[in-house]
Amino acid sequence: MSLSSNPSVPASLGDDQATYPLSFTLNGKPTEAQVHPLSTLLEVVREDLRYTGTKGACHEGECGSCTVLVDGVPMNSCLILAPQAQGAEIVTVEGLADGETLDRVQEAFLACGAVQCGYCTPGLLISAKAFLEKCPDPTPEEVRKGMEGNICRCTGYMKVVDAVVQAAKSSKGGCHAE
Ligand code: FES
Ligand code: FES
Repeated sequence: MSLSSNPSVPASLGDDQATYPLSFTLNGKPTEAQVHPLSTLLEVVREDLRYTGTKGACHEGECGSCTVLVDGVPMNSCLILAPQAQGAEIVTVEGLADGETLDRVQEAFLACGAVQCGYCTPGLLISAKAFLEKCPDPTPEEVRKGMEGNICRCTGYMKVVDAVVQAAKSSKGGCHAE
């Protein structure tokens, strides 16, 4: 993963109304935006580009609700300045499904009832996706540890952990996690 220094943004920010061109890949599509150099990636994705699946809550890197994949690595988009995403491949929750086919983590969250208010869910799904790439057959304890950066106020985490274990087993339909 690399977060770039965007050469189109001058070292001295100068005019604080100025915006700068940003090009990156968002959910597989080449994407361009004009961004203020102090905008966060979260702000650009949600407010400018209207991919509102990604949520903001704490805006200081504590809750994980804003998690997106940056070149395959889960990161808090509230802590990334938009120009740092120049040339990066960003995946938000909207990019998980393949057309009408949900990703295995989405299927498992549904099957296991791992969603209540849903505010944390996009971040959890992105983190779960990345976690399972690194740890394809986790124990519940490994899931808890591997996803400790994502806070959920509603579920008590048990069904979330079940869902990630279930996604690892990857059979669709039903929640078979213990
Ligand atoms: S909004 Fe980014 S970590 Fe909480
Ligand atoms: S489902 Fe409500 S915060 Fe997690």
